Amino acid sequence: MTDTVRVSMDAAIGRIAPEIYGHFAEHLGRCIYGGLWVGEDGSIDTTAGLRTDTLSLLRRLDPPVLRWPGGCFADDYHWRDGVGPREDRPGRRNLWWAQGRSETFTESNAFGTEEFLTLCDELDTTPYLAGNVGTGTPDELLNWVEYCNTPDGTELASLRTEQGSEEPHDVHWWGIGNENWGCGGKFDPDDYGRRYRTFANYLRAYDRNIQPEGSLELVACGHITPEWNREFLAAVGDYGLLDHLSIHRYLECGGDVEFTDEQYYRLLTRANQIGTDVDRAAATLETYAPAAAIGVIVDEWGVWHPEAVATNGLEQENTVRDAIVAAGVLDDLNRRADVVTMANLAQTVNVLQCVVQTDEEAAWPTPTYRVFEAYKPHMGATALRTTVDTETKELPDEDHDVQLLSASASRSADGITVTVSNRDLDRDRTVEIETSTDGQFTDATASVLFEATSVDAYSTRENADRFAPTEGTAEITAEGSCTIGVPPTAIATVRLSS
Ligand code: AHR
Repeated sequence: MTDTVRVSMDAAIGRIAPEIYGHFAEHLGRCIYGGLWVGEDGSIDTTAGLRTDTLSLLRRLDPPVLRWPGGCFADDYHWRDGVGPREDRPGRRNLWWAQGRSETFTESNAFGTEEFLTLCDELDTTPYLAGNVGTGTPDELLNWVEYCNTPDGTELASLRTEQGSEEPHDVHWWGIGNENWGCGGKFDPDDYGRRYRTFANYLRAYDRNIQPEGSLELVACGHITPEWNREFLAAVGDYGLLDHLSIHRYLECGGDVEFTDEQYYRLLTRANQIGTDVDRAAATLETYAPAAAIGVIVDEWGVWHPEAVATNGLEQENTVRDAIVAAGVLDDLNRRADVVTMANLAQTVNVLQCVVQTDEEAAWPTPTYRVFEAYKPHMGATALRTTVDTETKELPDEDHDVQLLSASASRSADGITVTVSNRDLDRDRTVEIETSTDGQFTDATASVLFEATSVDAYSTRENADRFAPTEGTAEITAEGSCTIGVPPTAIATVRLSS
């Protein structure tokens, strides 16, 4: 079976915001506590209480942004609880994610703002704080901004200095609420729009009058339905109060490791929905806020299997199938580089489609981690228009057919990167990559993921190395394009240079 990927060298879509390869970490199950943070008193090796094994794995992904503290947790979180000597911090309920788990019933607040910002420094990643709209006030959020960003001269700047952070943290990304149509307050779009306007008004004033203008990026929490976003925008009225509109999308079909062939393909086709969600949000913004240049963020995305429930801290096995879904979603987001300003996979460690899993002694990467590693060359590169000629598989009652080959391409100073996933369960595919500039490339290298692992294989501490990339063989053809063979359910990253 031969497929073709045509890359139009002169059809740049836009710069792929590195933040499209972002992550999300919530106070949920073992994501923060146990996965990232264990404190300084146990036997696990740490840097300032953060697991060094998790840190070193995450560093290899060059994570561009990390969203925290939720999720649903954010709209019942009061940031002052997590500042000050740890022994004095109050224990609080965790309204959303405790459910019957006595050991996590109390939020200790041991991991607070300074711990999170230390984590971001350790990972050299950009922090993204989600503010509390549901049970919080504009004053509380404004104070959080002041605590983080005001250099000196105010009580909250002094409070930060007392915590050991004399220099301001300069937090740039601020989410104003999370899922405010659901756990974040059950607001209708009008109510949230009006609240958003008030919260954003104060943050914008801080931005304009206290910091150099443009120091804060404000993110509104939108919805996957255009009607909701339309009503929300109408209620906000002043589109200058929004820099980004975010949406969330989780995917499901079958179990985490138990699924039929048909469910495998159905999950892939459902993943197309993320691209559709982005297109819809962008179209709504284009129609109702045309001059405002508001970006679309996919604030939370990933596969959420039925095995991941609140009582197990939303843990599920992480398979090659999930990784193939992630590759397709990232291809779709690359192709929408002109409108997508960020996307955050849920959730970084141990929870849902995590990239790292841990136990008491070790941390290891999931198959999805391997995809994020393989796609790194796309970060910050220029997305190029690609056309894929492949077979499709029809699935009754789904919105989309499944393309059996997914691909995206980008150009950077190092050359061209083309990522291709053969989603066919049974057949090898020979992929011809044709660029529109004949003869420009003389070198081709390739790495391949999941050549020898089945789609239901999942990562464990013992087997994680089995999912590591192997070298692929990409051959430059006479026309200056290239050919690579991709086994069933494998992903290739091809780099073309001269
Ligand atoms: O990621 C788990 C939960 O999913 C988040 O808390 C919430 O925002 C979403 O519904």
